[in-house]
Amino acid sequence: MTSSARIEALAGRMHVSATRRPDNHVIVVFGATGDLARRKLLPGLFHLAAAGLMPDRYQIIGSSRRELTGEQFADLARQAVAEFGTSKPTGAAWQAFRRRLSFASADTVRTLSLIEAIAAAEREIGGTPRRLFHLAIPPSAFEPTVTALGATGLAPGSRVIIEKPFGTDLASARALNQTVHAQFDESQVFRIDHFLGKESVDNILAFRFANGLFEPVWNRKHIAYVQIDVPETLSIEGRGGFYDATGAYRDMIVTHLFQVLGFVAMEPPTSFDARHLREETAKVFDALRPLNPRQVVRGQYAGYSGEPGVAPGSGTETMAAVRAEVDNWRWAGIPFFLRSGKRLAASRQVITLGFHEPPLRMFPAHRTHTPTGRGNEIVIDFADPGSITTGFLAKEPGAQVRLGAAEMTFRYADSFQAANGLEGYERLLLEAMLGDQSLFTTAGAIERLWEISAPLLDDLPPIQPYAAGTWGPQPALDHLTAPYHWHLPGAGAPSPATETPAPT
Ligand code: BG6
Repeated sequence: MTSSARIEALAGRMHVSATRRPDNHVIVVFGATGDLARRKLLPGLFHLAAAGLMPDRYQIIGSSRRELTGEQFADLARQAVAEFGTSKPTGAAWQAFRRRLSFASADTVRTLSLIEAIAAAEREIGGTPRRLFHLAIPPSAFEPTVTALGATGLAPGSRVIIEKPFGTDLASARALNQTVHAQFDESQVFRIDHFLGKESVDNILAFRFANGLFEPVWNRKHIAYVQIDVPETLSIEGRGGFYDATGAYRDMIVTHLFQVLGFVAMEPPTSFDARHLREETAKVFDALRPLNPRQVVRGQYAGYSGEPGVAPGSGTETMAAVRAEVDNWRWAGIPFFLRSGKRLAASRQVITLGFHEPPLRMFPAHRTHTPTGRGNEIVIDFADPGSITTGFLAKEPGAQVRLGAAEMTFRYADSFQAANGLEGYERLLLEAMLGDQSLFTTAGAIERLWEISAPLLDDLPPIQPYAAGTWGPQPALDHLTAPYHWHLPGAGAPSPATETPAPT
């Protein structure tokens, strides 16, 4: 095999499809004037274009209920790209992109102008381009929009990207899957979770399965606890109506954080193609124990109920932390702590694997460096550009044997060309155009996650208030992880008064 053939074979197995160019496409963004389109989709599509990763010929049709001219939509797109994009809207690249933008006002009954716009875009491209619909719309609009796509005859042969949260519980997820399957075959459906498009989340697979060093210790024998912690300093950012009907558990935990758990906990897949990868995450979700509401903390930041769009006296949580367990041979008995919330003390995206303490402590231990319940940790920071740190104890230089906390860190930004990186949505938009479902969730996986959520959703623990800018309600959060500790906010500064002698 030549070296380039070898690289291609490897790329195929690692679902690295970025070197392939998608077929010609008409992309329809529903919700094109909304927050997601402005922050992620329009800047992301332009970044793909500037990076030469869009199809040779493509047209992008923005659609929403609002009446905009094509010119107004192109201006909105330029502002969005200028504000949120990594590639700025200037020069020939922007002009070429702008020429491919058009707008069609539509709703579930007023579809004619959209049908005409799609026909015009297809004529412009020539041949038989593929169609990709991105449903960047409120969850309540998924079903009527999918049904309308069926009624207009636009569904056959098209692909559809559906945003999260997919359903609000098991019954609604099943109903939505049924509606979708009435119009689209599963191979046409791309349920998006943009955390799975993040470079550092994908790197979990490389870290585990491309190295002989880590996988042998990646199990209950060596690991005592796992944390997937995504605090945000952001508030609900003007999304009161959506957020108050959703809450932190549905917005982040049952979606993004459990998907990340799937990658952390899975068995080695036979290959990285869509079928094998998704089979392994499905097995993890099958093995998840239904959540125990007594092992869940729900918090709400002070002042939340005064936010625009939020119901007075709202009982929606703005922070949730859960203890999950994966009942299989690799993980039985090991807690997985998942936490996320708004207006917390920091914005981080961190996976921590905590190792068992050594069977015997022979060294005088510094309590700040070795607090009870915290051993060595592998810390994967998956906020772009991401890093991986291994924390261990080392002897401090000097005549005495004293231990200090030490770290080995790999930083993406220092080690690789960040310019080659794609943001989560960009990567997934590209994969959807290429028809690769590896990083998209299946109907079964989503339904299973709602199934294990049912005991919690049926018996929600009371909301506990927390002050904005803190780490959430205490002591509940510490009780949840006891005898272990949250990795964040970190061990803190060493204090000289905390040394304990070595046990004799
Ligand atoms: C979205 C949630 O899916 O993810 C937001 O709806 C959250 O509430 C966001 O802030 C976090 O994503 P990112 O891109 O900042 O990692």
